[in-house]
Amino acid sequence: METGISHLKRQAAERAVEFVASGMVVGLGHGSTAIFALRRIAELLRSGKLEDILGVPCSSQVEADARALGLSLTTLEEHPVIDLTIDGADEVTPDLDLIKGGGGALLREKIVAQASRREIIVVDETKVSPVLGTEWSVPVEVLPFGWRSQAAYLESLRAEISLRRDRYGAPFRTDQGNWIIDCDFGSIPYPTGLANELDRRAGIVAHGLFLGLATDVIVGGENGLEHWRRDSRRGSERAGIDDRVSGRARGGQ
Ligand code: A5P
Repeated sequence: METGISHLKRQAAERAVEFVASGMVVGLGHGSTAIFALRRIAELLRSGKLEDILGVPCSSQVEADARALGLSLTTLEEHPVIDLTIDGADEVTPDLDLIKGGGGALLREKIVAQASRREIIVVDETKVSPVLGTEWSVPVEVLPFGWRSQAAYLESLRAEISLRRDRYGAPFRTDQGNWIIDCDFGSIPYPTGLANELDRRAGIVAHGLFLGLATDVIVGGENGLEHWRRDSRRGSERAGIDDRVSGRARGGQ
């Protein structure tokens, strides 16, 4: 039985799939919202309305889901530029900045986002907030080696920290075998400064601040869908991907 929130997630995800065209390389996001997009793509492939899609999964879980649904997969080694990625988020602002990583897939999600010409984020309206950090802690992926030094560093940045654990009480392991420290910074009015502090620390492998990466956010709400877009020129600069290259990352239609 689909709950209200689930319905909103599905509507947002299915709207995003309308931007997928035959021949595309598509980034497949992780989470309970992005899975609706994956299922819809599989449905369209089965019915013949879409053809020749290659997926790049953002996690081993999504890879398994995509294989079970019969999608053809590829890698960033074979296709270093992704046409379009559909992914979820934990918190989004009207500036299209995000916190991601609630599901623990933040590193691969960021790599895929940075390789994508278009990054469409799909959320239900409960994820929208005026300032990052209002609703959600920032997940920080750290190497297990020296993790306590990173914990102390994060506390020096005024975070209340908590090492994420799995259901057995052991440290939660990411697909890369790293650990996650969830960091409550309170509201983060200047996320770029914080992102820089996190980026420059050895031992921190990734963090859940996704700034300037989303080109679109689709919000599913009780009163309908909203589609927010970032200026496309800034989006192309962000991806470091030349717009003069054709719309297809792999020469489709
Ligand atoms: C995965 O690591 C996350 O970044 C997810 O994209 C995010 O947690 C959103 O997940 P839901 O769609 O399940 O809320």
